[in-house]
Amino acid sequence: MKVSIIGGGGRVGSDAAFALQLGGIVRDICLLDANADMAAGEALDLRHGAALRGGQFFTSGDYDALAGSDCVVITAGLRRKPDESRLDLINRNVTLFKDILASMKGVKLPEHATILVVSNPVDILTQLAVQSGMVAEHQVLGLGTVLDTARFRSLIADHFHVNALDVKALILGEHGDSMVPIWSSATVGGVPIASIPGWADDTAGELFQKTKTSGAEVIRQKGGAGRAVGISIQEVVEAIALDNGRVLPVSALQKGTLGVEGVCYSMPTVVGRRGAHQIWEPKVTDAEREGLHKSAQALKDTLAQIGV
Ligand code: 2OP
Repeated sequence: MKVSIIGGGGRVGSDAAFALQLGGIVRDICLLDANADMAAGEALDLRHGAALRGGQFFTSGDYDALAGSDCVVITAGLRRKPDESRLDLINRNVTLFKDILASMKGVKLPEHATILVVSNPVDILTQLAVQSGMVAEHQVLGLGTVLDTARFRSLIADHFHVNALDVKALILGEHGDSMVPIWSSATVGGVPIASIPGWADDTAGELFQKTKTSGAEVIRQKGGAGRAVGISIQEVVEAIALDNGRVLPVSALQKGTLGVEGVCYSMPTVVGRRGAHQIWEPKVTDAEREGLHKSAQALKDTLAQIGV
């Protein structure tokens, strides 16, 4: 499988490439970047480790190097400032993203190719990629709240001092200020969180607030996320590569789940070789449903604001 990363010379793109190297599943990884030397340097650095990992092939190039990509990951974009919301980024990154899509149009992608959007505001840009018509609607995914869900699970695990792998808890909706924690189905080792000793209602608020502000906190401390984003990207790309039926909270065009349609945001989605195979309706409380409707409306308002 060939995966190309547009933005591969940047922090997120290169961390994603390194995560894919450690995963050893994807054979060919091609890095593109406006800073061509950075992309070439990252590919060279990764290539030097190939003998010690999965023997993969790492290349760099311009848009013509995208040819034959089974999956195109788009991480290119300007990072938001610590006090800036993702949607504030919109005008700066929409223009850049439209240029990227225009450059991609000249490339022949395989009929089954998928596009994974990571650049922010990811749900808005995922919708732009869907509307580009380069691949079928369900073959466009956004990283959505995969990263938020990972952060959420890790923070809950820290609270209980347990293994984060045993925490099942979802963040759904927008990857942004209107994201929604789905506490009603959250469990640790199969035990509902609310029934675990030492749990208090205000703990839920604290952990969700920490989750929601994690991105800005990482930006404040180290200039921007990379490691966890890279692993989140690897999770989605390898689900596509292995066609292994993972159910992940990726952003995809909604077709009526929970009554929401015509907007891209995160719902539990069966991910496989052709992208979003099925979108499943989660069982949520009235309050969670209301939060998700507000999230969808916030995104629709923004789409209207930029004339999409
Ligand atoms: C984050 O939340 C980059 O949007 C990503 O850190």
